[in-house]
Amino acid sequence: MEIIHVSAECYPMAKAGGLADVVGALPKYQNQLGHIAKVVMPMHRTKFLYDNDWEVVHKSSFVMGPNSFEYTIIKEQTNKLGFDLYCVDINGLLDREKIYSYSDDTERFCAFQIAVVDWLSKWQHRPDIVHVHDHHSALIPFMMQHCIAYNHLAAIPTVLTIHNAQYQGWMGWDKQNYIPAWDIRSWGNLDWNDTINPLACGIKCAARVTTVSPSYMEELVYDANGLEKLFQYEKSKCVGILNGIDNETWSPVNDTYITDNFSIKNFEEGKLINKKTLCKEFGLDIKKPLVVFIGRLVGEKSADLLPRAITDALRDLDGAINFLILGSGDANVEQQLLALNNSFVGYYNSQIGYNEKLSHIMYAGADFLLMPSRIEPCGLNQMYAMRYGTVPIVRRTGGLKDTVIDYEDPGGFGICFDRATVWDISYSLHRAVKLYGDKNKLSKIIKKLMNIDNSWEKSAGNYISIYQQLST
Ligand code: ADP
Ligand code: GLC
Repeated sequence: MEIIHVSAECYPMAKAGGLADVVGALPKYQNQLGHIAKVVMPMHRTKFLYDNDWEVVHKSSFVMGPNSFEYTIIKEQTNKLGFDLYCVDINGLLDREKIYSYSDDTERFCAFQIAVVDWLSKWQHRPDIVHVHDHHSALIPFMMQHCIAYNHLAAIPTVLTIHNAQYQGWMGWDKQNYIPAWDIRSWGNLDWNDTINPLACGIKCAARVTTVSPSYMEELVYDANGLEKLFQYEKSKCVGILNGIDNETWSPVNDTYITDNFSIKNFEEGKLINKKTLCKEFGLDIKKPLVVFIGRLVGEKSADLLPRAITDALRDLDGAINFLILGSGDANVEQQLLALNNSFVGYYNSQIGYNEKLSHIMYAGADFLLMPSRIEPCGLNQMYAMRYGTVPIVRRTGGLKDTVIDYEDPGGFGICFDRATVWDISYSLHRAVKLYGDKNKLSKIIKKLMNIDNSWEKSAGNYISIYQQLST
């Protein structure tokens, strides 16, 4: 089958979070299963763009509102990612350094989607599936079915994967002319609570909707940032498919970012050498359990609870624990986390910003990874941590619930808690310190973690089954 993935992010071309990791890996594994999976994304001005060779495969133009835009589709020449990567360049709109957070994001992503559909409409043949990801590409199923210039694409089945339903791409009806002329009878597909809601529109128009874990799918029916009723109504076409991880990129055996490579046979020395790098660089104590947090410093991740929880843990545990934080997001939380650098020298450190290399060393060198998320559609960090023998401490929600079992439960290997509260986090940190003291038990748990298979090899086929149902 020929599958076209459309996404705002794709690792290593452009990454803000897990969406990039998924879109950068899933197509490769689908190709290994004998299919032809391709990715189309905006041409962000990133290092990957400049470091690689591209060829122009298509040039054309479209009209959006009162303006006409020229667009160019370029393709990475060597297929080095294991799939064909196409980028859409729209002069002045997409060729920017950041992926999101511009005041004209609505216009940018509408233009991106129109360019993709316009390009598809000019192909000599039809792909078997168009698979869109999150709200930045969720208007595409609508455009293919209801926009007058493109509705000859209506027979191509579409799949929408929701990586995060918190962000829906809302746009006022005053921006309706950003969408190419559509059949007026279909306006109800665009509308949700008197605004154009691209994610809701994708849920209504896509042939199938997937979420990135089964538990998240169940949660959305009663907690979906305003879309609960829609999920209840469309439940029959929705399914949760657990994300996998790219075992080639995320492998302690040959990860080129980490200080020392290791396997299940020599994890004790290997993890220690990586921990040494972290302790040296961040002034921490190698003998103490090292708990790390990596991620966006936002409410969904309960980042606001970290300063209090860390302060309490260091006080209550009498400094028998070390912390290292890597992340960026809410300015208030960033400031509070940075302020702790001075209060707890030798026990705590934080690095504000995005650092791919450091994140890998942290997965490899830490003893525990903390994820107290309020909302976690899947979560990849806990799976990366597990692959590197780092014990996940997670709140039982979404994908965290589907991937981590408490070590005191049958078959377990992690530390789990139920409520996103400082108290629950503190209690779990106490349990971590206790577990760290029991070297025998910890060693058995690490071996168990490193043996767990969360790879895409397992999950990629689930998407193929859905595509096959749609195209027969
Ligand atoms: P989300 O997509 O909600 O942010 P995920 O757990 O799915 O959460 O994926 C997060 C991805 O982003 C992981 O690859 C993680 O290592 C990476 N990441 C998040 N914050 C940072 C950071 N500050 N520096 C480096 N990598 C980061
Ligand atoms: C989103 C979610 C995260 C998920 C990722 C990849 O960013 O917040 O939980 O792992 O997408 O699907």
